[in-house]
Amino acid sequence: MRSKKPLQRAILLPRGLPRRRITQSAPGQIALLHAIAHIELNAVDLALNMARRFTKTQLLVDFYHDWLGGADDEAQHFLMLSDRLADLGAAYGDLPAHDGLWQAADATKHDLLARLAIAPLVLEARGLDVTPTIIDRLKSVGDE
Ligand SMILES: [Fe+2]
Repeated sequence: MRSKKPLQRAILLPRGLPRRRITQSAPGQIALLHAIAHIELNAVDLALNMARRFTKTQLLVDFYHDWLGGADDEAQHFLMLSDRLADLGAAYGDLPAHDGLWQAADATKHDLLARLAIAPLVLEARGLDVTPTIIDRLKSVGDE
């Protein structure tokens, strides 16, 4: 069951976050899943920001619809991770997180092409590159 408490999170600089090793005990899995949930929630915010921020740029309406659909997808991912965190007795907001994605969003807020180059093509792509490793790490501690 999902937590009913409001989302609260401590935001730190990326290098300010403690590094945690994943183990068969819950804290390492919670830390990893919490970090991924934070990325998914940021992806919701970034997709909604894309759908709204660049409305003065004359683009096909499909551009905006695609970003709204992406926000919905990312929200589903966040909720699935929230459910998994709840299975482990935790909730999003229990641990600090970083604002690295928003720093990139802020730095590119006036330039659509820069935003598209940095957010989906670099940051999201980097996240996808590490996904197989994350899957292996979770499987290695018995979390299918
Ligand atoms: Fe996602």
